[in-house]
Amino acid sequence: MKLTSAIALSLLAKSVYGVADHLWYSTSLTNVTDWYNEVTIHSGDEPAGTYFMTNGYDGGYFGIQHNVPNKTVLFSVWDADDGTPTTQQACGSNVVCSTFGGEGTGLHANYNFDWADDTTYAGYIKASPVPGGYTDISGYFQQGSTWVLLATYRRKVDNPYLTGFYSFVENPATLTVNMTREAYYGNQWVRDDSGTSQEMITASLTNTSLNAGDNYGAGVKGSTFFLFINGPTSAIPSNRTLTREATGEEPSWDIGSASTNSGKKKQKKTLKTSQKRSLRNRF
Ligand SMILES: *[C@@H]1O[C@H](CO)[C@@H](O)[C@H](O)[C@H]1NC(C)=O
Ligand SMILES: *[C@@H]1O[C@H](CO)[C@@H](O)[C@H](O)[C@H]1NC(C)=O
Ligand SMILES: *[C@@H]1O[C@H](CO)[C@@H](O)[C@H](O)[C@H]1NC(C)=O
Ligand SMILES: *[C@@H]1O[C@H](CO)[C@@H](O)[C@H](O)[C@H]1NC(C)=O
Ligand SMILES: *[C@@H]1O[C@H](CO)[C@@H](O)[C@H](O)[C@H]1NC(C)=O
Repeated sequence: MKLTSAIALSLLAKSVYGVADHLWYSTSLTNVTDWYNEVTIHSGDEPAGTYFMTNGYDGGYFGIQHNVPNKTVLFSVWDADDGTPTTQQACGSNVVCSTFGGEGTGLHANYNFDWADDTTYAGYIKASPVPGGYTDISGYFQQGSTWVLLATYRRKVDNPYLTGFYSFVENPATLTVNMTREAYYGNQWVRDDSGTSQEMITASLTNTSLNAGDNYGAGVKGSTFFLFINGPTSAIPSNRTLTREATGEEPSWDIGSASTNSGKKKQKKTLKTSQKRSLRNRF
């Protein structure tokens, strides 16, 4: 499987900041416009700093992080490969939208939300091709029965559709080495621009280099994948291609129209220099 620019950055970052392992989901669909995933944090296994990335794709990612002082939902879109800046089209209410720099540049949206373990949340990414070689990428988070829009960002692209579907668990810091971080990822679905949908039940496992004392692993429990750093066992599955049971429970997809908080906000310019922090916020 090809390494995306996102993961290349992630791998680069890991050698400096911390460790991560990833699940790369397979689909036979092309022209994907919709990407849905569910995450459930394993009880207690979410020490400060952990980023549980749910909806990754070529050009950006979405997930929940145990930031300090507040837990957050995070949605990021990188600038184009040729350096053309990504632009903000919308920023959700109670969401902070800003630029980031460091490991690549782009725009990101942070939404303070006190997520809990043992609770299932969903993330949803929608791509809307824009004539002239752009695509509008929106990130939504399911809070109870409501979908919260984080932001809509316009990115210059060769292919206006979503590719490179993945999730990861990451410790972006270096202090809390060998603490357990574990999440279940389940019910992954994609849909293309003709309305054909597909449940993604197969994923392959990769990892960055590890800090001393760390291990990682993944597996399948019924209809979910689990993924951990320092989990219940240090065993890495001998077959790194994992297949979960299908749920057949397709999401309703009318998510953009069901969201209640869309709105525009002035974009804040903030270049992060958080690399020096021990508990590092993800960009
Ligand atoms: C994908 O979209 C392109 C451009 O809109 C189109 O030419 C192509 O036929 C589509 N492919 C499929 C499989 O729908
Ligand atoms: C954290 O949440 C509290 C309570 O909602 C809020 O007052 C504070 O501004 C938040 N801090 C940050 C850094 O977002
Ligand atoms: C993945 O972790 C193993 C240790 O389990 C390590 O040998 C390997 O180098 C890691 N992969 C990468 C790409 O660093
Ligand atoms: C935890 O990690 C530290 C390195 O930061 C190491 O010294 C220690 O031995 C590790 N403990 C265990 C139980 O692996
Ligand atoms: C690994 O598992 C996948 C299904 O999850 C299967 O298709 C493949 O044949 C397996 N590979 C090996 C070497 O057993």
